[in-house]
Amino acid sequence: MAHIFIGGAWPYANGSLHLGRLASLLPGDVLARYFRSKGEKVLYVSGSDCHGTPVAVQAAQEGMEPGDFAGRYHEEFKACFEKLGFSYDLYTRTDRQAHHETVQALFLKLLEQGYLYRKTVMQTYCETDGRFLPDRYVEGICPVCGKQARGDQCDHCSTLLEPSDLKERACKLCGHAPVERPTEHYYLALSRFQEVLSRYAGQAEGWRDNAVQTTERYLKEGLQDRAATRDLTWGVDVPLPGFGDKKIYVWIEAVSGYLSASKQWAAQTGERWEPFWLEEEGKITSYYVHGKDNIPFHTLIWPAILLGAGGLHLPDRILSCEHLTLEGKKFSTSRNWAVWVPDLLARYHPDSIRYFLIANGPERRDADFSWREFIHSHNGELLGAFGNFVQRTLAFVHKSFDGIVPEGELPDPWGKSLSALYQSAGDNIEAGRLKEALEDIFSAVRKANKYFDEEKPWLQIKDNRETCGATLHSCIQIIANLSCLLTPFIPFSCQKIRDFLSLPEPSWQVDFVPAGRKLNPPELLFERIDASRIE
Ligand code: MF3
Ligand code: ZN
Repeated sequence: MAHIFIGGAWPYANGSLHLGRLASLLPGDVLARYFRSKGEKVLYVSGSDCHGTPVAVQAAQEGMEPGDFAGRYHEEFKACFEKLGFSYDLYTRTDRQAHHETVQALFLKLLEQGYLYRKTVMQTYCETDGRFLPDRYVEGICPVCGKQARGDQCDHCSTLLEPSDLKERACKLCGHAPVERPTEHYYLALSRFQEVLSRYAGQAEGWRDNAVQTTERYLKEGLQDRAATRDLTWGVDVPLPGFGDKKIYVWIEAVSGYLSASKQWAAQTGERWEPFWLEEEGKITSYYVHGKDNIPFHTLIWPAILLGAGGLHLPDRILSCEHLTLEGKKFSTSRNWAVWVPDLLARYHPDSIRYFLIANGPERRDADFSWREFIHSHNGELLGAFGNFVQRTLAFVHKSFDGIVPEGELPDPWGKSLSALYQSAGDNIEAGRLKEALEDIFSAVRKANKYFDEEKPWLQIKDNRETCGATLHSCIQIIANLSCLLTPFIPFSCQKIRDFLSLPEPSWQVDFVPAGRKLNPPELLFERIDASRIE
C-alpha cells in the first residue's frame, strides 16, 4: 500500500475565502477522496495561516488580540470547508504550540547543518510609524516588469523581491518614503541548494506546466539566499538569544505547517506520521495543491528546508492552478469584486459549486466565473444530465416495479466501458487532470441518457415487462457506478444515491446492485436554479 500525503495551501486568516482561492484548494479534496476510495493510506492536511503583519495590523485596528482576530477567520474557513465536504484529516492553524515547536525544531536543524547564517542587513524602516516594515508593507515599482509591486513579490511577473529592489518606495501604512536601518537576521542559504534543486526539478513528474516553468526561471536566474527571520511582532519566536523582537519569516514557517500538521494529526489520532514523511518507511507520493502565486514556496523553499533538515520526503506532484476571473475581470478584495464563499454557500448546493470549479475551473489556464455559466452548468449538466438520469430511472423502478431491482444483466459495451472508465478517470485524477476525468465520466452520463432514450422503457413496459426490467436493471448498475466515480467530485449527491441503492462506501471498482434488492425511496438530487437569478 502506498502512502499518499496531500498538502492543501494554508489560507491567510485575514479575510473571507473567495471563489478563486477555493478553486485552487478543491483539487486536494478530489484527490483525497479518490485515493481513500482506492484503499490507499491518505493523509490530507492544511490549516489557516494565522501569522504575519496583515493579521497583526488589522487586529490592532479593531482593538483585538491577533489570535482572536485570526480565529474569527479560521472558524469561518473551517465552517466553509466542512459545508463544502472537504475531507481534511486535520485542518489546523499556525498559531498553535505544536506548530511553533515543529518550526523551531526545523530552524535549529537547519542552523546545525550550516544552512542558516547571521548577517547584518539594512532593512526598510518607517520613521513615521517607528517600526521596521515587513516586505509586504513596502510598495513601489517592480524592477523587472515596471508594474506596481509589493516588497516580497511582484504579482504581475512573479519575481521574488526584497523591499530594497523596489523603485519609488512608500510605506503601506502611512504612505511616506521609508529609510534603511541596520538589523541582524538569519539567512537561509538557498544558493547552496542550486544544484540539488536543479536536479530535483529536472526529474519532476506530474508538476503542472506553470510550476515547471516558474521553477525553471528561478533556477536559471540563480537561487538567492533569503532572510529566515524578520522584524515582526506576531509569529513564531526565533529560538535563540538576542532575537527576542524578531520572528521566523512567515514563508519558512507556513510551509512547515505540512509537517507540523502531520505530527499533530498523529498525536491526536494515535496514528503514525512517519510513513508519510520518512523515506525509509516505504513508498510515499506527496501532492501539493495551491494557486500559482505559491509555486516557488512549494518547489524551491519547502524542498530546500526538507533537504536541509534531511531524510524528509520532497514534494512529488505540484497541482498549482491558474487564476479565476469574475465576469471577465480579476478578483479584487479592495474593490469588492469577488464571490465570497460563505455567500455562495448560503445560496447554492455545495456539489453545484464543486462541479463548476472542477469542470470550468482554472486548472491549466485562467478561467472565468460568471453567474450565467454557473447556473448553466448546474441546470444543464448536474441536474439536466446526471440528476435527470438518476431520477427517471429510480422513479420508474418505484412506480412500475415497487422499488425492487428487476432481473437483468448489464449489456456488454457497458460493462467493459465502465471498468475502462475507472481506469482512465483514475489515471487522470492521479496525474492531476481532474477536469478531463470529470468530462470522461460525464460523457458516460450522456451515453446513459441516450441508452434510456433508445430503449424506451416507457414503451417496453407495455409490450414486455421483462425487457423493460432488464433496461432498468442496467440503468441501476450504471447509476451505482456513476455514484462511485463521481464521489470525489460531488460527494453529497453520490452519498444520497448510494443510500437510495443501499450501497457501501465507494471502493473505486465496478459496483453491483443485485436484482431483488428493495431500493429506498428517492428524493430529488438537485433543484433547478431559476435563470432570472443571473442578475
Ligand atoms: N498563506 C499563504 C498564502 O495564502 C501561504 C499559502 S500556502 C503555504 O499565499 F503552504 F505556502 F503556506
Ligand atoms: Zn509608515
